[in-house]
Parts: sequence; structure tokens; C-alpha cells
Amino acid sequence: MATHDLIVIGAGPGGYVAAIRAAQLGLDVALVEKEASLGGTCLRVGCIPSKALLESSERYAEARHGLDAHGVKFGDVSLDLPAMMERKDGVVKANTDGVAFLMKKNKITVHTGSAELTAPGTVTVHGAKGDTELVAENVLIATGSRPAPLPGVEVDGTIVVDSTGALAFDAVPDRFAVIGAGYIGLELGSVWSRLGSNVTVLEYMDRILPGMDAGLAKDALKAFKKQGLQFELGAKVTQATLKGRGKKRHAVIEIDGRDPLEADRVLLAVGRQPNTEGLGLETVGVATDERGRITVDAAFRTNVPGVSAIGDVIPGPMLAHKAEEDAVAAIEGIVTGVGHVDYDLIPGIVYTEPEIATVGATEEALKEAGTPYKKGTFPYQANGRARAMDRTEGNVKILAHAETDRILGVHVIGARAGDLIAEATAAMTFGASAEDLARTVHAHPTLAETLKEAALAVDGAALHI
Ligand code: NAI
Repeated sequence: MATHDLIVIGAGPGGYVAAIRAAQLGLDVALVEKEASLGGTCLRVGCIPSKALLESSERYAEARHGLDAHGVKFGDVSLDLPAMMERKDGVVKANTDGVAFLMKKNKITVHTGSAELTAPGTVTVHGAKGDTELVAENVLIATGSRPAPLPGVEVDGTIVVDSTGALAFDAVPDRFAVIGAGYIGLELGSVWSRLGSNVTVLEYMDRILPGMDAGLAKDALKAFKKQGLQFELGAKVTQATLKGRGKKRHAVIEIDGRDPLEADRVLLAVGRQPNTEGLGLETVGVATDERGRITVDAAFRTNVPGVSAIGDVIPGPMLAHKAEEDAVAAIEGIVTGVGHVDYDLIPGIVYTEPEIATVGATEEALKEAGTPYKKGTFPYQANGRARAMDRTEGNVKILAHAETDRILGVHVIGARAGDLIAEATAAMTFGASAEDLARTVHAHPTLAETLKEAALAVDGAALHI
């Protein structure tokens, strides 16, 4: 039996960041992870490998037909998929090794195995070489989430896959169907479309990216359609059946009230669900809500003293950066009594091309709440740097309070939107008004000037439109 100050269960962006922050604050920390490498879904089979493939596939697509306007001509451009996948695996390894290094540097004890709470403050690690018992005053659950299932659609791992499978196809599927037009469906749909697949996205709602600003989602849909992705909106998938043998094996997807769709590979991306099984939550009496998420108070404490939870396993957006913020706030709460995350200011980014990035309130939410607002928009088309880059597709929208001018929401679609949204988030974190942003000097020529111009446009004073 080993005694620590804190046991963290799960080494994803929530868990490993919590472990580091706790070590920085002087706690003796044990980190338990069931996978051989650290970093969780995000680093191993999520954010990082998908970004590696998005980057590679974008360069391939650009080399094939995006550089003519720049006067760059290629001969035949061909795809070496194994090399692309090898690079992706290398990127993942560099990141997961990086986390292992950080654990050593911070003197965090890492245990490999599945953790089970056997009593409050007691965790049994079921490892390859048997069980180890750990005891600590505090236990932090950061076990993340996994793809949600869809009745009638069985993920066989070959023809019908989840996000992990769609990051590792050994050949480009001819016909690729994606169920769910959310973050994962659009990112991985984009990857395989660029690499040559005929992609059809099936979405249950009558729009893509539900939850995001409707105007932004509409612009995004237009951009994806222009790239050749096909969409079936309002499509209720009832079943997927596998047919044929060998290379001809494929899926037939039944859609309520429509013709069935045949596909060589199918990605199921209809959301994620929390990982709570096998943790011993029932043994120690940790409460969960109707969606299986662990319920916590504002300080991330569960109903069981000494047991806290963060990240995807508790309510809130299932995003790596949200889990990291939870982690720091939860640990600071345990050690100092104070820790806070502003959930109104969690940016969301879809790393497609154009990128889609958003922070704060949508226009729909402001209307629904009856909040009076002003709107400023600015197109990439009118930005000098965007023209120089040949990336003129997109726009910035800033929503500010009609009376106080405080920025309430920023929605960007366009090149590097994911980087631009950081400025908006920082401004909003400091409670900036649209005028504050408009009067901030922005270097010229940069894409960030689109934000300044949209802020000026809030009061009808944009300079370049
Ligand atoms: P999501 O919640 O983003 O999107 C799921 C989509 O599936 C929604 O549009 C939903 O309406 C649709 N859907 C649900 N049931 C359906 C059905 N029966 N038929 C057709 N469509 C259906 O979930 P997704 O894309 O699986 O991502 C899971 C989580 O991972 C998200 O919470 C997201 O925040 C996170 N993620 C974040 C990324 C990023 O930050 N760039 C990248 C990938 C994932």
C-alpha cells in the first residue's frame, strides 16, 4: 500500500494537468492510467492525430489544386498514405512522450492499470502484474469520455468505425459516410474528402454544428459543399447493415424516409459519453446524473468527501482545454480553497479549412434571452493579408451589448480562425467592450485586423468596407 496526498485517475489533458499543478503546489501525486502511453484520448486518438492528418491532407489538397493561383505548378502529385500515417504516429509519440517527461520532471508517480475506488480515499490499481493499493486524502477522477453508440449501427472497427478507426484507415475509402455533422464528423470528413473519398455527411438535425451560432454554421455548410462534401440534413439513421465479401464488403445505411446510402467506410460521430464504468462509483456512493456524468459542485467536489471529478466525465463541453481549466481550478480549490473557471468563455474550434471558431454567446442565445445587442461583421475578402494568402473565404462576427458595448460573443469562419479566437477570448475575459478591441493597435497586414474591423463595424465605423 502506498500513501499519497492525491490520486489522479486518468492521464488525459484533465488528469495530467491536474497532476502537474498539484505537484507544483507541493502535493505528493500518484497518476493512474490504464493505457500504456499518457495523454488520454486527446493526445493518443483525438485532437493531436486528427490535427496531424488535417495538416497533411490540407497540404496534399493544396498541392493538387490550391497553388495555381500562387504560380506554383506541380507535376503529378501522389499520396503516400502510409507515410502520412507514420508522420501522424510520430507526432502522437512526441506528445505522449512529452507528457511522460513532464510526469518525471514533476516527480509524479505513474501507475499503469485500471483504477477502482474501493473506499473513499482508497484506489486499487488493476495492473498487468496484479493489484496495487493506493491511499490518499484526495482522489480526482479524470477518466474522460468515449464515442456514444447509435442503436442499429454497430461499430465493427473495420467498415463502421469510430473516430479512432477513422484516424487509421489503410486506404482511402471510395465512398465514406459520416454520421453526425459535429466536430469529429466535419474534421475527419474533411480529411478523407481531401485525400480523395466521396464523402456524405448524414446529420439528424436540419443544420450542421448544432449549438454553434446559426449564421456561422450556415457559412460553414456552404464552404464544405463547395469543397465537394455532400450533406443529408434532417437524416435519421435507423440502421447500418454490412453486405458483400472481401474488398467488396460495404455498409448499407438505412435513413428514415429516404433512399438507403451505400458506403465503403462509415464513421459514427454522434457525440461522446462519460467513462464511469469500473471505477467503483457505486461502491463509494459517487452520484451521477441522468446522462451518466458525475455530479460535482462549483469546486469540482462530488457528493463523497475527498472525491472530485473534472473534464469530460462531468457536465460541460467535452473539450481538452475545458478539462485543463477544470484541472487547475480543482487542484487550486483543494490546496488553496479557491479555484474558478468561466464556462461562458470556453472557445470552440473546428479545425477544418476554413477553420470555425467561436466564443461566448450565439446570436440565437442573445435573442432568446432578450439581451439587446449590436452586431459587427467583417469579411476576410476585405483583408489585405487574406488576399495575399489567397484565403479570402470567411468572416468575423462580433456581438456586443447594445447599451454597455461589452463583447458578448465572437464567431469566426476563415483561415486561422482558431488562432484569432484567442484574442477575442482574452478581450472578453478582461470584460472588453467592442470599442476596446476596435482601439487596440493591430499590426498590418494580419488576419487579426479582421477582428479589429468587426469591432469597428459594431458601431458602423469599419474602415475597409
Ligand atoms: P458533436 O456533439 O460535436 O456532434 C454530433 C453530431 O451528431 C451533432 O451534429 C448531432 O446532431 C448529430 N447526431 C446525433 N445523433 C445523430 C443521429 N442519430 N444521426 C445523425 N446525426 C446525429 O459530437 P462529435 O463530433 O462526436 O464530437 C464529440 C465531442 O468531441 C464533442 O463534444 C466535441 O466537443 C469533442 N471534439 C472536439 C474537437 C475540437 O475541439 N476540435 C474535435 C473532435 C471532438
